[in-house]
Amino acid sequence: MTTFWSGWIIVLTALNIVGCWWLIRWTMKKRAGESSEGDVTGHTWDSDLQEYNNPLPRWWLYLFYITLVFAVVYLVLYPGMGTWKGVLGWSSHGSQYEGEMAAASAKYDPIYKQYAAVAIADLATGDEYQDARDMGKRLYLTYCMQCHGSDAGGSRGFPNLTDDDWQYGGSPEAILASIANGRNGIMPAYAHLDETSTGQLAEFVLSLTDRSTDTAGAEAGKAAFIANGCAGCHGADGKGNQLIGAPNLTDAYWLYGASPSMIVKTIKGGRNGVMPAHKELLGDDKVHILAAYTYSLSKK
Ligand code: HEC
Ligand code: HEC
Repeated sequence: MTTFWSGWIIVLTALNIVGCWWLIRWTMKKRAGESSEGDVTGHTWDSDLQEYNNPLPRWWLYLFYITLVFAVVYLVLYPGMGTWKGVLGWSSHGSQYEGEMAAASAKYDPIYKQYAAVAIADLATGDEYQDARDMGKRLYLTYCMQCHGSDAGGSRGFPNLTDDDWQYGGSPEAILASIANGRNGIMPAYAHLDETSTGQLAEFVLSLTDRSTDTAGAEAGKAAFIANGCAGCHGADGKGNQLIGAPNLTDAYWLYGASPSMIVKTIKGGRNGVMPAHKELLGDDKVHILAAYTYSLSKK
């Protein structure tokens, strides 16, 4: 906040408080020409309903004063006047949020730590570790659901975590690495290729799952697959390479869609899937529990 806006808020707030004070005093004053206390004011409604000039009850009036004093005391102790932090130095971030986080850490960190000492495969399958998997599920629903879906079934560009097809590997170590360090699949764009070439390449990719309808095209595509370096990443047989996240093109699992038009789109435009790293955000113990939960999903 700039000094100007801070000052603006301070002046407005102070004027309001002083204004309220003045208003109370003003309404209590007797003015010339007014009826005196206890008399009728001369205002009449519904032919016989008359207004009397009676003072506010004392307790009511004191309530007004108390709220004003409360406001002043509050604004001295707590933040409220522009950028003034209040004499207590309280803040929702520092005092409240971090305090609550610290309390939660003190409570749960030992439990996370205890599970982090157990091997991922055991956590994922052992009956005695159901609690750890429940914890993993809650963490999953907080940190992963928005991308991989509430059922971890994924969607276009976001891998399904419940099947047995892994872009980067389904071993406990590979899953842990995916979550901790993140992943970034780079499929280069072949924008320079003409339609015939991309069509033939797509035809070859389709032939890997027995869906090609153009044998000659697929044959030409096979040569282009090697000539354009596709085989360098996806392998000459199209079975992929988990080290760089190049998907297996011979199975029924598609990250970006199985249709010929989606395959052409992938080749022409390239793809760049990003799985964010979670090690810094969550710490090793939670990442370990999340890896066990993810591993358990594919082992059902
Ligand atoms: C911002 C979206 C996003 C979030 C949040 C996210 N992921 Fe991912 N995740 C991705 C994408 C995209 C990929 C695929 C990366 C690629 O295409 O190279 C991926 C890949 C993965 C993989 C590798 C899958 C494979 O087939 O090898 C695992 C495991 C994974 N995520 C687990 C998780 C877990 C557990 C969480 C929660 C801690 C999480 N992800 C949070 C987007 C996300
Ligand atoms: C530098 C390595 C590399 C090269 C070269 C490469 N790819 Fe890829 N390809 C990838 C990666 C990595 C992905 C996954 C992208 C992601 O995770 O976002 C991918 C994704 C794909 C997909 C989508 C798969 C799916 O499941 O939806 C297709 C199809 C594909 N590549 C075909 C090709 C073809 C055809 C060529 C050659 C013209 C080629 N790739 C060249 C690395 C490569």
